[in-house]
This record gives sequence, C-alpha cells and structure tokens, in this order.
Amino acid sequence: MRRRTDQPHGPSRRNLLTATGAAGLAGLAAGAGAGHAVAEHRLGQEHGHALAPARSRAGDRDGMPPALLSPTPSQVQMVAVDLRAEAGGRTREAARRVLRTWSREIGALHEHGLHTRVEGAPTQGLFPASLGITLGLGAPLLDRAGAGDRIPPHMEEIPAFATDRLEPGWCGGDLLLHVGAEDPVVVSSAVGHLVGAVAGDVRPRWSLSGFQRSAAAADDPAATPRNLMGQIDGTVNPHASDPLFGPQVLAAHPEPSLAWMDGGTYLVVRRIRMLLDDWYSLDPADREAVIGRRLSSGAPLGGVAEDDRPDLAATGEDGAPVIPRDAHIRLAAPGNTLGARMLRRGFNYDLGWDTAGRRQAGLVFTAWQADPRTGFTPVQRALDEGGDALHPFVRHEGSALFAVPPVRDGDPWAAHDLFPG
Ligand code: HEM
Repeated sequence: MRRRTDQPHGPSRRNLLTATGAAGLAGLAAGAGAGHAVAEHRLGQEHGHALAPARSRAGDRDGMPPALLSPTPSQVQMVAVDLRAEAGGRTREAARRVLRTWSREIGALHEHGLHTRVEGAPTQGLFPASLGITLGLGAPLLDRAGAGDRIPPHMEEIPAFATDRLEPGWCGGDLLLHVGAEDPVVVSSAVGHLVGAVAGDVRPRWSLSGFQRSAAAADDPAATPRNLMGQIDGTVNPHASDPLFGPQVLAAHPEPSLAWMDGGTYLVVRRIRMLLDDWYSLDPADREAVIGRRLSSGAPLGGVAEDDRPDLAATGEDGAPVIPRDAHIRLAAPGNTLGARMLRRGFNYDLGWDTAGRRQAGLVFTAWQADPRTGFTPVQRALDEGGDALHPFVRHEGSALFAVPPVRDGDPWAAHDLFPG
C-alpha cells in the first residue's frame, strides 16, 4: 500500500531553484516526463503527532505557506471575505489593518491555541491539533487598493469553461482564510475568532467546510484518502521531496514588484458538487471506466497497484483502449495538458439536502501551483474540451483564485509593503 508523503522534507526552494537553473516552466515541462510522482504525506511516522500535537506545527518554519507545510488536515474551513471599503486609500488602510490583525492573531493561535487569547473559548482542553492557517489574496483587492502594478500576471482570471455552472455567491473574494486542523472545534473557533477580529472591515462572501477521513478511524492513516464517490483521490501529485516540487508548486518571481509572492503559491479553489445518486446508480465497472482506475486499489485499469504508471497505449482484445478515451486520468494526464502539474488536495463537503431535495455534497477541490496558467487552467480545459466522463456526475459551482504569499520571519503576512501607509 502506498504512503502519503506530502510533508516537504526536500531541499529548500532557493537550493532547488539554483539546482534547476532557470527552472520555472522548463522544470514544469520536464515534470511531464517525470510525471508519475505520487503524493501525500508521511503520516505514519507522525501519526500520534497528527492526532493531538501539543502545539501547531504550522508556525515552525519559514518559507512555504502553512497549508503546504503541514500534512493535509482532516478538517478544513475556507472563508472568503470582501473588504467593506470600496476603493482607494480607505481600501489600502483597511487591508493593512486586517492583514496586521490576522498576522498577529494567527501567530498566537498557531503557538498557543485560541483559549489563551479568549477567555471561555470552546477550545479549552484541546491542543491546537495541527492548526494551520493560510492567507490568500484576490486580485480585485490589490486592484482596488491601488496595488494593480503588484498583481502577478499569474492571477489573470480563470477562463470560463463550457461545463461550468458557477454561482457568483460561491466565487471570488478579496481575501481567503484557509484553516485546517485535526479537530472541527479548533477549526471553527479559529475561523470565528479571525473573522470576528476584523468584522468592522470585512464582510464574509462565502465559506465552505471540508473533511477527510480521520487518522483515528483509518485502517491505514498513511493511505491516500477516498472522496465521497468512493475513489482513491490524490494518487498522482508532485511529491514534496521531488526536486520538481518547487518549480511546479512554488511561485518564482525575480521581479522586485512581485517579490512579495516569491516562494508563495497560487491557490485555485473549486466548489464541485457531486451528483452522488447518479454516480452510485452506475455499475462499479462503469464507475471505474469513468476515472480509469480501480475502485478497490486505485490501480490504473490494466495495472495492479495504485502506484503503477497508467498504460495509456494499452488496448483490449476488442481493440478499444483499456483506459477509455474519455477517462478522467487520460484527459488530465500531463501528456494531454502540456505537462501541467499542480498539488491537488480535495476535501469532502456534505451540507445535506437543499429545499428541492437535492443532495448538497461534493468536493472542495484545491489546486496549489506555481502558475495557474500552466497548472489548473490547461488541465480543466483538457477535461472540458475532451468530454471528461466524470462531468455528467459533477457540477462546478464555485471558483476562486488567490495568491498565497510565503511566510517570512515567522510572519504569515510578511508583505507589509504591499499596502504602504
Ligand atoms: C469532483 C471532481 C473530481 C473528482 C471526483 C476527481 C477524481 C480523480 C481521481 C479519482 C483521480 C485518480 C487518482 C489520482 O491521481 O488522484 C484523479 C486524477 C487527476 N485529477 Fe481529478 N477529480 C476531480 C476534479 C479534477 C479537476 C477539477 C482537476 C483539474 C482541473 C483534476 C485533475 C486531476 C489530475 C491532474 C489527475 C492526475 C492525472 C494523472 O494520472 O496524471 N481533477 N481525479
């Protein structure tokens, strides 16, 4: 059984960039060949730690944003907020206030937990439980705050896709809080505290909580988790110790005006509803054909083990491809997407049923990458235009793109010069 190893133990990004020279896109293209690097984290060694660490691990290291430093948490809440200020100097002042407040409070929450900040908080008696809080910035905020020249071209709007069913209320946002932990009370309390601390300046835009199976319930906590469709999801991902992890996932910005994002990452969030009744009405073999992998083991069709490289050229006795032409993994494969690579982390969500009786459950899909223009976008375009067999069973209802700056000197918001005052 494969292990999840997304805990970055590899060389530092600086070393990586030096080692890979001009890296960036060249590295990305090379990564297409290296292709079948696999995911996720070495929870095995850290299992006890992941369940109830005395303090969060997120504040421990500089460099990568907390969400990438810590193993994928079992609980997450993402909240996008808009600044109340409309434009200009007021927006800049408000952005500065909000980010300074969050920077201070996040440091304290990572270090000691909420109950040391707020008397009577619900987290009394709980460890921070791997709390990791990550900040993101939306391009519209930079624009309105007079920092348009600091917007990386990487933040160009994600194009519309034919299969999109986006609802404006689930899209965009000036700022994002991505709060993860092993305990839902820790997550919810941290979110409430952080949003409450800046309530005068922000208005929540959308919020979505997600979960993965807990390590405590898992037969093998280090195995790749399953989504609500029952698929092993997250197999093919850049490995944190792979030299290409840096070029594929971390942003490189030598330009002084974009230095605030050097070493950060770009996060695409998609709220993807799953039509689970339709999905489970398919035979298991048909469900496997949709993705191109076995439900039991996650092995590619024609393969044996989850880590086997999919043989996209293999044909059956009838001459038809073993992995169907419209299978999700064929269309999303690097050979079909100009070598696109991103770190995918999916979280399940389940909000029950709406008033029309429709199940409101699916995937909070997150993709972390050096450049969405060569990461998420070409893959989604390939899925869209290639007629992904998965599409009849999913609805993309929300979409947002955020710049996630690196942590510097322990400060989750080190880019103070973005909003001078
Ligand atoms: C609800 C929606 C989705 C579901 C249920 C889903 C499920 C899966 C599953 C089960 C796999 C195979 C195991 C793995 O490698 O993780 C996979 C692979 C993959 N998916 Fe998705 N996926 C969804 C949406 C997306 C989206 C929106 C993208 C990007 C635009 C994407 C990109 C990929 C990529 C790049 C791979 C690896 C392909 C390869 O083998 O090289 N998926 N997905």
